[in-house]
Amino acid sequence: MRKRIYNTFGIEAYANDIVEYGSVAELQNIVPTLQNCQYFHVGGGSNLLFTKDYEGTILHSKILGVEDVSYEYSQSSDDVYLKVGSGMVWDDFVGYCVGNGLCGAENLSLIPGEVGASAVQNIGAYGVEAKDIIVEVECVSLTTGEKRTFTNAECQYSYRQSIFKKELKGQYAVVYVVYRLSRKFTPMLDYGNIRSQLSDGENVTPQAIRDAIINIRQTKLPDPKVTGNAGSFFMNPVVSKEKFEELYAQYSNMPYYEVEGGVKIPAGWMIEQCGWKGKALGPAAVHDRQALVLVNLGGATGADIICLCEAVRKSVKDKFGITINPEVNII
Ligand code: EPU
Repeated sequence: MRKRIYNTFGIEAYANDIVEYGSVAELQNIVPTLQNCQYFHVGGGSNLLFTKDYEGTILHSKILGVEDVSYEYSQSSDDVYLKVGSGMVWDDFVGYCVGNGLCGAENLSLIPGEVGASAVQNIGAYGVEAKDIIVEVECVSLTTGEKRTFTNAECQYSYRQSIFKKELKGQYAVVYVVYRLSRKFTPMLDYGNIRSQLSDGENVTPQAIRDAIINIRQTKLPDPKVTGNAGSFFMNPVVSKEKFEELYAQYSNMPYYEVEGGVKIPAGWMIEQCGWKGKALGPAAVHDRQALVLVNLGGATGADIICLCEAVRKSVKDKFGITINPEVNII
C-alpha cells in the first residue's frame, strides 16, 4: 500500500514505500534493495514541496544520539566535539548544546528539520550557518553502502549549498555529523534585531540568545502545525555591486548585506514591495508577517504553490530585474 509522505507544507503526496533506518548497519542492509528503484532521502520534511506522488522509496534516518568525541580531535580545552545522529531533531540538538553550556549553535535555534539536513542544506539564521560549526560529515553511499567521511572543506559549503545538493546529489545519506562547539561564549548579535530583542542590561548568555531567537521566529514565521509551510520559500539573491548601486539609487530604504561575490538583497523585502505580502492565489498565500514564506491555507496542491511561486517570481523580475529562486526542494 502506498504511504503518505510527511511534509510541513501539508501537501497530500504518497510514495511507493517509506523506509526508516536506526543504524549504519541497517542502512547498509537496505542499500542493495534500492538499486532497482527510484529513491529519495528526506530529513524532517520541512524543506520539501511535492508536486506529485513519488514513484519510488523514501528513505529517512532515525539515527539518534549525541556522543562527545573531543578526545579524537581537540587541541584546545575550550572546544567540544559532538558526534550527532542524523535523525536527531535539529532544535533538540541546539537545546542540548545550550543546556550543557556549549556555545555556537544558539543562533540556529528553532530551525525546523533534522541534523542530517543541517549538513546537506547548510542551514543558517541570524548571522550563523551550520558550516561554521560542522567539522565532518559521515555518510553512507546509497549505491555501494560504503562509509565515507567528508571534511568541512570537502562539503564545499556556501549559502544554503553543499556538495550533497550539487555533484553528489542523491548519492549519499548523512548518518552522523561532527560539530565543534565551544565552552567559551562569543555572542553573535549583529544580525538584524537580535540585540534589540535582548532585555536591556541583561547578561547575554547562549540561553538568552536562544530565547530571543525563538521569540522572533515564533512571531514572524507560521507554525507548520497550524499553517502548512516550508520556512523561507526562496533564497536571497546575490547581485553584482553595479546592479546593487543601480537599485539602491532608486530604493534607498532597501535592506542589503555585503557578501563574498556581491550584495545580498532580501527576497522577502522585494516580494513585499511588489505588494504580495499577505496576498493569496487560491489556497496558496504569501505569509502576512514574512513575505519570504509561502503558506498552504488548506488543501493546496503542489501545483497551487508553484502557481503562486511563479507569479511572485515574475513580479520580482519585472520590478527589480532580479530572478529569485526557490530554496525548497521541489519534487
Ligand atoms: N523583509 C521585509 N519584508 C518581509 C520580510 C523581510 O521587508 O516580508 C526585510 C526585513 O525587514 C529585513 C530583511 O528583509 O530587513 C531580512 O529579513 P529577515 O531578517 O526576516 O531575514 P530573511 O532574509 O527574510 C533569512 C533566512 C531565514 C532566517 C533569517 C534570519 C534565507 C532564505 N532565509 O530570511 O531562514 O531565519 O534570514 O537569519 O536565507 C529558512 O531558511 O527557512 C529561514 C527562515
